[in-house]
This record gives sequence, C-alpha cells and structure tokens, in this order.
Amino acid sequence: VFENVAAAPADVIFALTADYKADTFADKVNLGIGAYRTEEGKPWVLPVVRKANQILVDDGTLDHEYLPILGLDTFRKAAINLILGADSAAIADGRAGSAQCISGTGAVYAGAYFLSKHYPNKNVACYISKPTWANHRAIFEGVGIPVHEYPYWNPATKGLDLDGMLQTMQDAPNGSIFLLHPCAHNPTGVDPTPEQWEKIADAMKAKGHFAFFDTAYQGFASGSLDKDAYSVRYFAKRGFEMFIAQSFSKNFGLYSERAGNLTIVAKSPEVKNRIESQIAKAQRANISNPPAYGARIVSLVLNDGTLYKEWEDNLTTMSDRIKLMRQELVDELTRLGTPGTWNHITDQIGMFSFTGLNVTQSKALKEKYHIYLTENGRISMAGLNTKNVKYVAKAVHEVVTS
Ligand code: LMR
Repeated sequence: VFENVAAAPADVIFALTADYKADTFADKVNLGIGAYRTEEGKPWVLPVVRKANQILVDDGTLDHEYLPILGLDTFRKAAINLILGADSAAIADGRAGSAQCISGTGAVYAGAYFLSKHYPNKNVACYISKPTWANHRAIFEGVGIPVHEYPYWNPATKGLDLDGMLQTMQDAPNGSIFLLHPCAHNPTGVDPTPEQWEKIADAMKAKGHFAFFDTAYQGFASGSLDKDAYSVRYFAKRGFEMFIAQSFSKNFGLYSERAGNLTIVAKSPEVKNRIESQIAKAQRANISNPPAYGARIVSLVLNDGTLYKEWEDNLTTMSDRIKLMRQELVDELTRLGTPGTWNHITDQIGMFSFTGLNVTQSKALKEKYHIYLTENGRISMAGLNTKNVKYVAKAVHEVVTS
C-alpha cells in the first residue's frame, strides 16, 4: 500500500539534538534546541516544580481520571490571568476564554485549525515573521492556511526591520492573520519596543488584521512576567480580538509534560463560548482531552502566592545566567578581536541569539568544532557555560576569520 510514500525530511532542531547525542567528542557543545541548561550543562528541574511535585505526591486524593476536554479549569484561568493580567477588562467582561493544549505547539495548532474552519474569509493567509520558528509555517500550512512572510530581521542593523514589517501589514489584504511573538522572538532575540508595538497595533487596526500571538518565554526575557506580556496586554487594551498560544515548557522547565494553553479574547462572552465549544469539538477528535500532570504543577504554582514568588526567583536564576553568558561571549569575542560587531548578542533577549553567522560558518562550527547550532546562525544561549564559552568564542573567531 505504501510503497510510493516519500520520506519526509527530519525536523532540523530535533535532528540536531540527535546528532549531538551521537557525537563522542568530549568537548561537544549543544547550542541547538531551546532548552535551559545549568552551568554544569544539565537540564534543570526548577526547585518550585520539585516542591509542587511533592505537594501533588503528598495529596492522597490524586487519581488518573480524565480531565475535561478543554482541560484543568484552575490551570486555564491562571494561564489567562498570567498573560492578560488579573486586571484585564477582557477577563472582567467574560470575553476571555481558553483551551488547555499540548504545550505551545498544540495551542498554535488548535488556534490555526479553528481559523481554518471558521475564519470568515476562506482565502485568508497567515503572515509569519522572517525568520520565525519553523513549526509556525508547518502548522498553518498543515491546516490549509497559506503562509506568507513579513520582514522582521534586518541583517544590516542586526535589529528589527520595523518599516518592512509595517509596510507588509499595510499591503496585506484586509483581515489577514499575523503571527506575532510577544517577547523573546525565536530565533532572533529581537523584540519591538513599546513605541514600536504601538505602531504595529495601529497598522494591524487600520487593516482589520487578526493577531495570533505565540508566547513560549514569558518571564524568561526581561525577568518580569508583566513586562514580557506587555504587547499582548496592550493589544487587548486596544480592543483586538485575538488568540494567544502559551507554552509552559521553558518557563517551568516542563518540556516533556506538554503544558500549554490557548487564550482566546473574543468580542463578547457569547462569542467566546461558541469559539470554546468549537475548539472542544476539534480537541475531542484530536487528543480527546489534555494531559494532567504538567497542568497540575503549573496550576499549583500560579494559584499560590508563596510558590508564585519562588517561581519568579527561579525564572530570574535562568534569565540572569543567560544574560551572563551573553556578556561572557561578547567579552571573549572582543578580547579575541573577532572581526565584526557583536553587541547585538547582549542587546538580544530571551533564550536565543541570532549571531549573524552564515550557513557555511554554522556548518563549519558543527563539522569541525562539534558545536551544534541551526544553520541560520541561531544559538541557544542556555547551552553556554563558563567552561565552554571560551571554546565556543575561539571556534566562532576561527570560522569568521578563515
Ligand atoms: C526551539 O526552537 O528550539 C524550541 O522551541 C524547541 C522546538 O520545539 O523546536
């Protein structure tokens, strides 16, 4: 039956992890996948997650019954509050809803699938940033929504191409879908300022575009959960209807537990209810109902003042270490006199740096130096530590000067 099935290409990011694991070189470095690592290069179970886990274990009443189709109620409410802010008018009006999903990917998928079925304009396209996380294109094309790009990264300034972005918003057909990263843009680490978000919102409003935010790094970028939600809350204040995909993989270190949420901001409580009902219908046919463990951990922490405070401290530990690594990498490249400017590495924010290294240089880092990064020059800052940063800087110096 299947002799004519063509092989699909491997996923770039996960293939990189597999190659890294198979590499026997002692000083190999993984700067590929966006997963936090400690100074020792190890995954980190957040102390607050350990504590919440113990609370769950000690609670003798837990069973393994199904969650409702839309997920754990206390988790969904807390996730909405976290992104929109407890004082959000959309929440007070009853216009904010949600579906617990299979982490950020599942949330983007649930939103995209809903749009593919119910967006009033059947010919709508989704605009994604150039560049963006590769899965964005795959998800939207997978549900049959054509994908276009809007300029984002300006290679000349190694910063945001705001003019290009606004121009594309102006030129796109009315009511297009725009996929936006609220903070810690993946892969560039370049975020708009509040003034730039205002211009983006103006351009989106003028054309009636639909905002679809995807946030995987709230609390991981500026070090403040509120600041990292600025763009979403600003759009909500401006009266946008929108979707926000939320992942708790990075900010809780719950990568394999697939804890995520799709927050919905609708025009009215009635519309919100109808959207939720359609997402529930689709979710039932797709995953039936979401997994409980990660959502229980997140819910415990978000709904308990003391644990929440501890979570913020854990987030600071992670974002501070990443900032330190940005500085050490730049210091080392400066010390070596590596040609080019490198201050963008410290200007960028979040898990990644878009180094500006080209495909040949990135490949050479992997092949000659056993340093694994995506070929677009993105490095996961969390893969650096005080023991390997000199080795990495020297290798970068060598590929840039060879
Ligand atoms: C990444 O961009 O490395 C992460 O978001 C992991 C993934 O799922 O691709």
